[in-house]
Amino acid sequence: MGEHLNVRISSTGMALPGKRLTNMTLEKMVDTSDDWIVSRTGIKERRILDEQWSASDLAVVSAREALDNADLKPHEIDLIIVATATPDHLVPATACIVQSKLNAFGCPAFDINAGCSGFVYGLVIGQQFIENCTYKNILVIGVDILSRITNWEDRSTCVLFGDGAGAVVLQPSNDAKGVLSVSLMADGEGAEHLMVPAGGSYMPANENTVKNKLHFVKMNGNEVFKFAVNIVVETINILLNKSGLSIDQLHLLFLHQANHRIIEAARKKLNISPHKLPVNIERFGNMSAASIPVLLHENVREGHIERGDLIAMVAFGAGLTCGGVLLEW
Ligand code: UT7
Repeated sequence: MGEHLNVRISSTGMALPGKRLTNMTLEKMVDTSDDWIVSRTGIKERRILDEQWSASDLAVVSAREALDNADLKPHEIDLIIVATATPDHLVPATACIVQSKLNAFGCPAFDINAGCSGFVYGLVIGQQFIENCTYKNILVIGVDILSRITNWEDRSTCVLFGDGAGAVVLQPSNDAKGVLSVSLMADGEGAEHLMVPAGGSYMPANENTVKNKLHFVKMNGNEVFKFAVNIVVETINILLNKSGLSIDQLHLLFLHQANHRIIEAARKKLNISPHKLPVNIERFGNMSAASIPVLLHENVREGHIERGDLIAMVAFGAGLTCGGVLLEW
C-alpha cells in the first residue's frame, strides 16, 4: 500500500466586481419585474464585470487572497486548476494566464469545464493529486463571467446570472480528516438543456451565428430545475452513505446558488433546517463555477465554520453535471 494523505481546504478567497445590476435596472432592459425575479429566483441584484477586465483578472484577485490566507507564495504552488465556462480565450487555458499573472512560473495549469459544477469537479481532481502524494499546494479557482455570454434581450436567462470568482488552496492535512467522500456525475443526455451553441468546433463563429445570437447561453430552465432538485438530494445521500454519516451531523451544506426555489425544494426533501443552508443568491445571482467558493469564503470569513465541522458542497449545471464533496474542516 502506498502512502495516502488526507486533503483539506486550508484557505479561501474571492473576488467580485464592484458594479451592481439591480432588478430595478433589469425592469428597464427587458419585460420583467422585481416581483417576478425575487419570487421565482430569490435574486435581488448581481455583479457585472467592467469590460476592460476578464475571467483571469478576477481569478487572480481571488487566488491572491487564498494564497495570503494560506501564507503561501505563488512560486510554492504545485498546480493550478481553473474551473470556468467563460475562459479568457478558447485557447490557451485560462489557468495558464492566471499562472503568468501570479508569477507562479512552471507549475502545471489547466482548465476544466463542468459548467456550474466546475469548482467541485476541480476540488475532486485536486484532491487526487494530494492524496497520492504527487503535489502539496494546489490552487483551485472557480470563475465565471456569464455577463459576457448572456443575451441581454432574453428575460428568461438575463435576470439570473452574475460575475464572480472564488479560490481555495488544497493541502495535505495533519490534523483534520479533510475530504471524507466525493461524488461526481454527468448526464450528457441533458447537454442540450444548457449550452452555448456556437463558437466551438461544431458551429464555428460566422456572421449568421452572431446574427442569430448563438454565442449566448441558451437554457431550458424547467428541465435544469427538475434535474437539479433530484440530483442534489441523491448526491447528498451518496456523500453521507459513503462516509457513514447522517444528515444531522452536517454543520453546513453549501448548495450551488442557481435559484432559491431549488435550494428550498432540496432542503425540504432532505428535511433539514434553513440555517444549515447558507444563501447569497439575493446579492450575487447565479455565478456558475464561482458560486460555491464565494459562498464558502463568506462563511469562513464570518467565522461560521470551525475546525472539525462537517460541511458538504453540492453543485449542478451544464453537461448536465453534478458534483459533491463532504469534508471535515
Ligand atoms: O446554474 C445551473 C443552471 N441553471 C439553473 O439551475 C436554472 C434552473 N431553472 C430555474 O431556475 C427556473 O426554471 C427559471 C428561474 C429559469 C424559470 O423559472 P420557472 O418558474 O421555471 O419559470 P418558467 O420558465 O416556467 O416561466 C414561467 C413564466 C413564463 O410565462 P408564461 O409562458 O407562463 O406566460 C415565462 O415567459 O414566466 C415567464 N418569464 C418571465 N416573466 C417575467 C420567464 N422569465 C421571466 C422574467 N420576467 N424574467
